Amino acid sequence: MDYPHRPVLVREVVKYLVAVPDGTYVDGTVGNGGHSLAIGKGLTGKGSLICIDRDADAVAISKKRLTPFGRRISVIRASYADLDQVLMELEVEKVDGVLLDLGMSSSQLEESGRGFSFLRDEPLDMRMDTDNKVTARDLVNSLSPKELESILKKYGEERRAKSIVRAIVRAREKEPIETSFRLAGLIKSVSPPSYGSKVKHPATRTFQAFRIAVNRELQNIEVFLNKVPYLLAKGGRLVILSYHSLEDRCIKKAMFEWEKGCTCPPDFPQCVCGKIPTFKRLFKKGLRPDKGEIDENPRARSAVMRAAERI
Ligand SMILES: C[S@@+](CC[C@H](N)C(=O)[O-])C[C@H]1O[C@@H](n2cnc3c(N)ncnc32)[C@H](O)[C@@H]1O
Repeated sequence: MDYPHRPVLVREVVKYLVAVPDGTYVDGTVGNGGHSLAIGKGLTGKGSLICIDRDADAVAISKKRLTPFGRRISVIRASYADLDQVLMELEVEKVDGVLLDLGMSSSQLEESGRGFSFLRDEPLDMRMDTDNKVTARDLVNSLSPKELESILKKYGEERRAKSIVRAIVRAREKEPIETSFRLAGLIKSVSPPSYGSKVKHPATRTFQAFRIAVNRELQNIEVFLNKVPYLLAKGGRLVILSYHSLEDRCIKKAMFEWEKGCTCPPDFPQCVCGKIPTFKRLFKKGLRPDKGEIDENPRARSAVMRAAERI
């Protein structure tokens, strides 16, 4: 069977994540299971992998795809932000590695029917976890112009946020904006023909911004980064692939601070905070896919990978 999502930097993920092939690992964003499949192959018969996704469709797809590994791989519907609870329920104290591959999968974009894509006419939902209450439709139709502008600027880095918000507000006064096509059409109608390019539709940034807001993606990363140091065994690895500069910035900052330890101002004659380094970065600069991978999988073009080892 063909799986629409092609995993990014697969060889590098396995190389930096799996230091102990007998160990216990977590794929916190299993998606279509592409990375998990490669990690599973890199483990011995004693190794195990706990796979998590908040999207019920992703859980169903990856469960099926990872069946050949039997009980060595378990697939659970949860948020990686709740990894501590997931491990507690499984009676696992510490793990030897955690992978996060952030953003959305090609299946969500192309097949979910939840309005992630401006190229498909679908209900404006954008929830990865359909048990959550708030949809993109709710945000688009109920937030104030100021709140909408802030979402577009912060999560989409959209330069034309003001005029897009004006178009949204004008349109929703007549009738609620219910579908991805309607939202995309509004954005297109207020964008100069030169805005965007052949590869970037003028609605790209707005759709990204609403998806990030609906799924509280940055908040989840923050929660996760606060928990993960306590969940990794000594020598355990953390590998994160991100596709957005805001995400990468907070991952980079967390890894830098873990490595540095002491947070005293530089002019203090001696450390008074007592913080010691808890991680060692496995490489300093974010790793990016090469041209060959980007040509084969254009989704890889914005990927940045960072990795650190618990010490
Ligand atoms: C880029 S895809 C992962 C693709 C996967 N690595 C593969 O090889 O198929 C991102 C996945 O993360 C999931 N996701 C996003 N936020 C999540 C969260 N807070 N907890 C768990 N899964 C999440 C999405 O539902 C999506 O399936």
